[in-house]
Amino acid sequence: MLDFSRQYNEIREEVLAAIEQVCASQKFVLGPAVESFETAAADACHATYAIGCASGTDALWLSLASANIGPGDGVITTPFSFFASVSSILRCGAQPLLADIDPLTFNLSAEAVQEVLESHRGTGSKAVIPVHLYGQCANWDAFRTLQQRYGVLLIEDAAQAFGAAWEGKNAGSLGDLAAFSFYPTKNLSAFGDAGLVTTNSLQFDEHARVLRSHGMRRRYFHDEVGWNSRLDSLQAAVLEVKLRHLSRWNEQRRQIAHRYDELFNKAKLVGSTTTEGVVLPYTDPRATHVFHQYTIRAPRRDSLREHLADRKIGSEIYYPLPLHLQTSLSGLGYRSGDFPISEQAAEEVLALPIYPELRADEQETVVAAIRAFYA
Ligand SMILES: Cc1ncc(COP(=O)(O)O)c(C=O)c1O
Repeated sequence: MLDFSRQYNEIREEVLAAIEQVCASQKFVLGPAVESFETAAADACHATYAIGCASGTDALWLSLASANIGPGDGVITTPFSFFASVSSILRCGAQPLLADIDPLTFNLSAEAVQEVLESHRGTGSKAVIPVHLYGQCANWDAFRTLQQRYGVLLIEDAAQAFGAAWEGKNAGSLGDLAAFSFYPTKNLSAFGDAGLVTTNSLQFDEHARVLRSHGMRRRYFHDEVGWNSRLDSLQAAVLEVKLRHLSRWNEQRRQIAHRYDELFNKAKLVGSTTTEGVVLPYTDPRATHVFHQYTIRAPRRDSLREHLADRKIGSEIYYPLPLHLQTSLSGLGYRSGDFPISEQAAEEVLALPIYPELRADEQETVVAAIRAFYA
């Protein structure tokens, strides 16, 4: 599914030099390396401020908490995402409200969010967290319209989307706040856990910085309860090196996605639904996709996955169980059938190997194995 060593071999010297610099400075938490990465990351997303933190999960929590979202507030998001999109809302003491996805992009549907906002459940909703799933921005035109109509805060879950854009505007600069993850599998990845909040608001920026350091404005004086979610300097140094290569890596991902499209079409495997064949990823013409994942819908998905595994071809299901059906979230009061588009996606999606260094012959092997399965 992923071979990290290819990327490491490419940037080994650059990254080891950056690590050596941090070791020589003996400044391991926050400090100049973090400040330098924050500046570079804010520039890269065309956001005014960037605040490094410990993980993407913490970045979501910090985004909510720095906007003072808490008990009594509703926050609307998608059930077809990673767990943190919802758990971060609970961690703030707010109420997660879910809305179904768009079947083409798998992203949160603005129409479904509007229904929640108009309903009894949506009363008191303060924020919406659209997730830029698989590296494609959610329909920001539609969410901006909702914001104008309902005055909700928009927080991007951009964990999978560093470098992505909507109508030429970068992820990280679209919402009031945005949360990024640099988990090692991400397009921009650390050598461990790391995350980032971006915002154009000085007020949110200052608050997030206080919250990530135990709510301290003055050392050992805690005006509010924060957390330890500092970014460590070694991760920041690694990230800053990798950021210099990211546009090229994202371009390579787009080329790989395009090649998959061609191979599937040539193999005559493609359909517009899973009753007709393999459904290829859809890119909205307004989106600059960074293909964190290349996710197909596949007939007999689980058997296909086994067939691939038998041939030592990695694949993954993001995500096999929508969040409203997770045991730990049963208290939210949803049940099976509430979000049919998400539920169907969970049964059909399969992510195929994609990373910048993936070779054309490896892609041909993947598609040939899929063709053999359906033959
Ligand atoms: C959509 C989404 N949100 C949030 C997160 C949480 O990020 P992290 O794993 O860095 O805490 C992830 C990463 O796994 C993610 O994919």
